[in-house]
Amino acid sequence: MLFTIIGVGVFAYGIIYTILVCLADCDLQLAFFERFGKKIRNLKGKVVFITGASSGIGEGTALALAKNGVKLVLAARRLAELERVKQKCLEISNGLLTSEDVLILQMDMLDIKSHQKYFDLAVQHFGNVDILFNNAGRSQRATWENIELDIHKQLFELNVFSVVNLTSIAVRYFNSKGSGHVAVTSSLAGVVGVPFSGSYTGSKHAIHGFFNSLRTEKTGKNLTVSIICPGPVFTNFLSESFTETVGKKYGISAKPTDRRLTMERCGELCAITLANQLDESWMALFPLIPFTYTAVYFPLIFKTTLKIVGVNTLFKLRDSSDIQLMTEAKKN
Ligand SMILES: NC(=O)c1ccc[n+]([C@@H]2O[C@H](COP(=O)([O-])OP(=O)(O)OC[C@H]3O[C@@H](n4cnc5c(N)ncnc54)[C@H](OP(=O)(O)O)[C@@H]3O)[C@@H](O)[C@H]2O)c1
Repeated sequence: MLFTIIGVGVFAYGIIYTILVCLADCDLQLAFFERFGKKIRNLKGKVVFITGASSGIGEGTALALAKNGVKLVLAARRLAELERVKQKCLEISNGLLTSEDVLILQMDMLDIKSHQKYFDLAVQHFGNVDILFNNAGRSQRATWENIELDIHKQLFELNVFSVVNLTSIAVRYFNSKGSGHVAVTSSLAGVVGVPFSGSYTGSKHAIHGFFNSLRTEKTGKNLTVSIICPGPVFTNFLSESFTETVGKKYGISAKPTDRRLTMERCGELCAITLANQLDESWMALFPLIPFTYTAVYFPLIFKTTLKIVGVNTLFKLRDSSDIQLMTEAKKN
């Protein structure tokens, strides 16, 4: 009798868990904290430094934070876009923020030598930085064996080495003041080996290595490390993507009919991750979250399913287009 009850309990748990995973647009830990955890407004008055804040996920996160009175450092290269995001932040803050509370930094992440200067400028302006959110980055669509070595290097310069350098500066600063929080936008491609993005997937996996190592090293030291892993989101991302060839961008734009999270929803989930100091969070529309759970916890099932449905299906889930489009786009 006891074993029957335990068996039924485990079965029911499995069914409920599976249903919830299929319904949510994020992993279940994040979904739980969105409902029952700390609200974004708990960060009110804190200072968050966001790189890649001129569009997309960085912009969405800035808006979610500004709405709750969080002071912002918006960093990227396109000044006009940063000004636009700043105005949107001030409007959405509904009087919680003044112009002084949103600092714009026109900063190229690839100019590594300038990182310290910009971080110091932010600290001087606000007297403090509480969270560094490393979000700037670019993706890639390419066939693995054709990728030029320089593309691997360029992608790692932007998605990995610039991030690690700025984070080192922030961590030294947080060490000196006794606490702090560093976060980074990885991707579901940092969790699963996705096809046709070899260097990008490598760069995001490397980010997990660097940031997980940092978290372990600083255990008990008041340093929070968050890794944020979005699936497809409506941003400029695809058109800005690297290909396999130096100097050639992918150039395809997302279509309004694509299955992607909006940048506002993704930004909100990023802000919830920051407010609740979560170690890792995943966010995407169905079926990519159950798909990621399967890949991580049931690799054999994942591998067998992939053999049956084919890699093209995976490409379609990610880009809402046929793999053929990638081949044609790269010819142009
Ligand atoms: N969209 C998705 O489907 C998706 C999915 C998973 C992960 N991600 C990750 O999300 C992050 C943001 O991408 P997004 O989708 O929001 O694309 P996006 O709209 O193209 O945003 C990329 C941001 O990075 C900045 N950036 C690029 N190169 C830079 C450089 N050299 N120096 C400083 N800033 C630079 C861009 O600003 P400037 O051009 O003004 O410099 C822009 O603000 C990336 O790390 C990406 O890997 C996106």
